[in-house]
Amino acid sequence: MSFNVAIDGPAGAGKSTVAKAVAKEMGLIYVDTGAMYRAMALFMLREGVDIKDRLKIAEKCTQADITIRYEDGVQVVYLNGENVNRYIRTEEVGEAASVISPVAKVRENMVRLQKALAAQSDCIMDGRDIGTCVLPGAQLKIYLTASSDVRAKRRYDELTAKGQSCNLQQIKEDIEDRDYRDMHREISPLKQAEDAVLVDTSHMSQEEVIDEIKKRCGQAREK
Ligand code: DC
Repeated sequence: MSFNVAIDGPAGAGKSTVAKAVAKEMGLIYVDTGAMYRAMALFMLREGVDIKDRLKIAEKCTQADITIRYEDGVQVVYLNGENVNRYIRTEEVGEAASVISPVAKVRENMVRLQKALAAQSDCIMDGRDIGTCVLPGAQLKIYLTASSDVRAKRRYDELTAKGQSCNLQQIKEDIEDRDYRDMHREISPLKQAEDAVLVDTSHMSQEEVIDEIKKRCGQAREK
């Protein structure tokens, strides 16, 4: 049986940074499920589909073949055969992913793919519904969060470091909108699984968070 770690939490909590670092040190594959929803959103944007039109999204999503491969240890997302890693990290695509992800037909395919990846390999998977829906039997579940002020400030620092101009208040509002959507959708809303460990990173450094999760991974593996 493979060893699976589930990390869920709101946008900007630091899930991917932490999961990537822990995966490397613990010899696990890192599965970024948000990237799959982002690839689907990119497909809809490119096709000019109104992302609020759920019927259209459900109809169109069967035309997007999304697969994941690992190249030099890095997750590469393919959309209809094209490596789309470099197009899916924008705010626009992240927002669109949050808008289209409640559509049942979109989730069905993604969840099937995610379950298959986890069955094949020891992995750490992050997203919104991993502990509650995709991997209910994961040996370790973490719910990683931080206040919206802290998450907005981290995002602001990241963007300004890249030389992009941005507005802290606007970033905070976008994050809160996204939280609301992700937590209040009908299917697989973001919530802490009953058996998940809550890690609030508001007052923790990145190193402290990584150490904490590594420690818990080690303990879960020994069980
Ligand atoms: O983690 P992220 O920002 O890359 O995710 C983008 C959006 O995708 C997120 O706002 C909601 C959706 N998502 C989801 O519904 N289920 C997941 N397991 C991962 C992401």
